[in-house]
Amino acid sequence: MDLLKVLQSRYTTKAYDANKKIPTEQFNQLLEILRLAPSSINIQPWHFFVADHADAKARIAKALVGKYAYNAPKVLDSSHTILFCTKADIDAEHLEQLLQQDDQSGRFKDEQAKQGQKDTRTGYIDYYRNEKGDIGRWAENQTFIALGQMLLAAGIEQIDATPIGGFDEEILSQELELKQLGLIPSVLLTLGYRSDNDFNAKLPKSRLAAEQIFTHL
Ligand SMILES: Cc1cc2nc3c(=O)[nH]c(=O)nc-3n(C[C@H](O)[C@H](O)[C@H](O)COP(=O)(O)O)c2cc1C
Repeated sequence: MDLLKVLQSRYTTKAYDANKKIPTEQFNQLLEILRLAPSSINIQPWHFFVADHADAKARIAKALVGKYAYNAPKVLDSSHTILFCTKADIDAEHLEQLLQQDDQSGRFKDEQAKQGQKDTRTGYIDYYRNEKGDIGRWAENQTFIALGQMLLAAGIEQIDATPIGGFDEEILSQELELKQLGLIPSVLLTLGYRSDNDFNAKLPKSRLAAEQIFTHL
């Protein structure tokens, strides 16, 4: 597989063929790829809502109104839509859950190693919360790493995709009771197969020139 070719040909799909469905096994593999996304101190500050049938997609599309209405058909006609959420705060319960998972996964040779991991995580959380002062931004950055991983994976799997940041956060939060769950909605990802009418499929890619974005020291 030529990764560069994949990235030259993947693109943001603007219109989907509503009749085409990603095979279940292939979609489940994408979810596993999502689960494996890396994050700072393995904090995994996310939760994902998967919509794979009309009613679920309609619930998400409630937030695609007004200036975001242009995004609604993408969700409704997609095969699957995933809402990427980020934890509004990193609490002690989440840190304990991570530590126990690390333990179960066999990452500690003894109690001292476990305590070391606990102290390291706590230290970084204190740093992001108190010194850098914006733990929410740091947490959400991790969720976007997961998005990037999925865009690449979809490209490799020849599944069309659209990252969607244009949605009404308040409506989506209310619809899925995200505040009660301690979550904020970060980004949507629609997956499926392009429609023959997708104007964007035929447009050339546009990126800033290498000289503008790379400085070789
Ligand atoms: C975080 C993020 C949010 C985006 N939000 C939207 C959106 O709401 N609607 C849309 O049509 N495209 C959206 N895009 C797609 C970008 O416009 C697109 O990735 C960019 O123009 C580069 O084009 P390409 O993906 O076709 O290479 C978003 C992309 C990212 C990464």
